[in-house]
Amino acid sequence: MAQSSEALPMILITGGTGYIGSHTSVELINAGYSVVSLDNLYNSSRKVLDRLHQITGQTLEFIEGDIRDRQLLTELFRHHDFDAVMHFAGLKAVSESCENPLMYYDNNVTGTVNLCQTMAAHGLKNLVFSSSAAVYGNPEKLPITEDMPLSAINSYGRRYSARSAPI
Ligand SMILES: NC(=O)c1ccc[n+]([C@@H]2O[C@H](COP(=O)([O-])OP(=O)(O)OC[C@H]3O[C@@H](n4cnc5c(N)ncnc54)[C@H](O)[C@@H]3O)[C@@H](O)[C@H]2O)c1
Repeated sequence: MAQSSEALPMILITGGTGYIGSHTSVELINAGYSVVSLDNLYNSSRKVLDRLHQITGQTLEFIEGDIRDRQLLTELFRHHDFDAVMHFAGLKAVSESCENPLMYYDNNVTGTVNLCQTMAAHGLKNLVFSSSAAVYGNPEKLPITEDMPLSAINSYGRRYSARSAPI
């Protein structure tokens, strides 16, 4: 596995082959960052890696794996000197999250706690987390600002509130 260099800050992107993760990867690579991508491919495909190569002309390091796999994360952090984590791994279908909230809590909350614990164990505090406006429910005014009260109205939003807590 590669080691980071000071010239190229190394970013771990979870959910790296998903919609936001893949677009973020392009921007980071084009800006000169070194990107390591982690995804369990539950809602994405390896074909994304070919497209990223076509767009950027570079091959990023990809690990197929799950953020709930503590041993995998520990190994990943042991072999890389990450400067920051951008956390996009998660399930996001609102109706499915209401039908099967435990699966969503396990994937998204347990996974995020796992990631934060691994980061803490390696002294890394730089985290970008893709949250959701769903944590504010039906806001009294727009635009929503981060200091407004959390008031999720469904499992999707409550799961996001729980997921944000360890961060
Ligand atoms: N797209 C939006 O408009 C939007 C808005 C607000 C918040 N978000 C949040 O941002 C995050 C990314 O959204 P997206 O639109 O890119 O979703 P996406 O489904 O396209 O990407 C998420 C990626 O995470 C992966 N993944 C899921 N669970 C995983 C796990 N346990 N371990 C490893 N990989 C896992 C999936 O395979 C997928 O590739 C989600 O958490 C989503 O809720 C997205």
